[in-house]
Amino acid sequence: MCGIVGYTGTEAAAPILLDGLSKLEYRGYDSAGIAVRNGTALAEVVKATGKLRNLAEKIDNGAALPGSCGIGHTRWATHGEPTKINAHPHVSGNATGSASGPVESDVVGVHNGIIENYEELRDKLTRNGYRFYSDTDTEILIKLVDYYYKKYKIGPIDAINRMMVRVRGSYALALMFRDYPGEIYAARKDSPMIIGVSEGAAYLASDVPALLKYTRQVYYIDNHQSVRILPGEAHFFDLNGDEVDMPLTEITWNAEAAEKDGFEHFMIKEIHEQPKAVRDTLNSMIKEGQIDLSGAGLTDEMLQKIRAIRIVACGSAWHVGMVSQYIMEDLAEIPVRAELASEFRYRKLLMDPDTLVLVISQSGETADSLAALRVAKEKGYATLAIVNVVGSTIAREADHVLYTVAGPEIAVATTKAYSAQLAAMYVLTVQAAKARGRISEEAYRGYLEELQALPEKIARTLEDKERIQWFAAKYANAHDIFFIGRGVDYAISLEGSLKMKEISYIHSEAYAAGEMKHGTISLVEDGTLVIGVLTQKELLEKTVSNMAECKARGAYLMGLTSYGNYSVEDSVNFTIYVPKADPHFIGSLAIVPLQLLGYYTSVARGLDVDQPRNLAKSVTVE
Ligand code: M6R
Repeated sequence: MCGIVGYTGTEAAAPILLDGLSKLEYRGYDSAGIAVRNGTALAEVVKATGKLRNLAEKIDNGAALPGSCGIGHTRWATHGEPTKINAHPHVSGNATGSASGPVESDVVGVHNGIIENYEELRDKLTRNGYRFYSDTDTEILIKLVDYYYKKYKIGPIDAINRMMVRVRGSYALALMFRDYPGEIYAARKDSPMIIGVSEGAAYLASDVPALLKYTRQVYYIDNHQSVRILPGEAHFFDLNGDEVDMPLTEITWNAEAAEKDGFEHFMIKEIHEQPKAVRDTLNSMIKEGQIDLSGAGLTDEMLQKIRAIRIVACGSAWHVGMVSQYIMEDLAEIPVRAELASEFRYRKLLMDPDTLVLVISQSGETADSLAALRVAKEKGYATLAIVNVVGSTIAREADHVLYTVAGPEIAVATTKAYSAQLAAMYVLTVQAAKARGRISEEAYRGYLEELQALPEKIARTLEDKERIQWFAAKYANAHDIFFIGRGVDYAISLEGSLKMKEISYIHSEAYAAGEMKHGTISLVEDGTLVIGVLTQKELLEKTVSNMAECKARGAYLMGLTSYGNYSVEDSVNFTIYVPKADPHFIGSLAIVPLQLLGYYTSVARGLDVDQPRNLAKSVTVE
């Protein structure tokens, strides 16, 4: 977790670093710091706990820190509490890391990732005279680079390469060396980092939004590569220290995509971007009335050969897998199991050799999902990834990639990326159903029409937001909320419940409606809110009965159904309707009111919607 940035050029570095960090704050926001060099002067380090604005205030939005070369960091604590001492940058010298001002150290650095063998390395460095002021693994990493730098005296790239051979774990690391003013050195393994260049300047960042304002020309640095950046230039090196050519990529996202654009929060903006995200994703895979997955190298023959699909993902992406499990089995008749990536890798995988392992990930960097992908590849399974961030590690390592076209998602709580992932899974399902001869040509065309109608129906669902806002205000002080449903409705409940709890901090659970009576119903008491997702016609009555069982024990009932199912109103206290749609795809509509409910509840409680406590957008630790 954490976000890192770097800049070297002719402009003042500090405001650019602060701006870049503000676009990465979603990655961590418990402390922040920057180090800036003014020509050949020593680096000045400033750190602050809490949100980035504390750091910005401290340095007068950058004006108090002159210099045109610097690095910055926004932290999500892993090793050590979120204190000023543990905040980055860290330095190679033995001085206290909390000091602000010029640092005497030879190496100053920021890091995103986790070093696994840090204890062994700390002992080695302690024996060599190093002292540690912080609880972080990052300080060990920087002192290890310093150790090799001084021992072999060959230069920064050599020292970084020796460090890479010695450490276990993940890192995106950016360093400034006292002897190399105007230059930044960086390296990565399993944590994201991109390098941007423009006329007379060079940048590095954990993610694209931090660079969009300055350049769209980026390099994706590979695992175990290092890079030297100086104004207008980037030079890449392999582990032997040999310079390697890397392709320059043009980013197509525009800068506005990473701004709030008049909305109060990124989350509500991204909720409203869902029609576009779904439309763009569908259009990238449906050409001239036919599904075309050739961009991902997927052929009908491959889809015919698959004997089973194992979807591995985390959080909301796993919830997409749960929806897909129902619809793929129903339409394409392929056995599908959606599994949490963090569980998948620690079990004996008794899978048919013709199983496709399908990883779903917005960021393409989630550590558990990446580890699961690697296990699957090691064992020889074919792999497909559905990813939003172009060039991310999962996208690069999977055999096949289908990109969602949601644009940058900034709010920690995912909305538009979730909807785009669902859309991609629908397309894959329909094509698999066709390729395997499970649906007729006519049904195929019908499903495509249904899919292409989704963006407009999502837009219509959004029009009903005032009612949900009102309901959220009424229930903002709830203690427990249950989301229940059957089949696809259960899978949607999982996501609705996560949206509620992660940003409103209200305890909520999603339950398969029929399971409540096997234990959980004992938690229902006077006023408990039970939300029933009721879009699946043949299952609806049964879920309504389960809701009635809760009502009999004092629950207040909200029903979420589609227009036409008006009898629901007779059984529940409050009803929300979404447009009618094919039952396989209606989850894309049902999720919208639940996203809005989570959002408005968080707003009514006065919470930090976009940056909820204890969370970070991209979870790069296991
Ligand atoms: O980037 P990924 O899609 O791999 O992230 C997986 C989860 O961490 C993510 O979906 C998380 O659950 C959401 N931010 C919740 O809204």
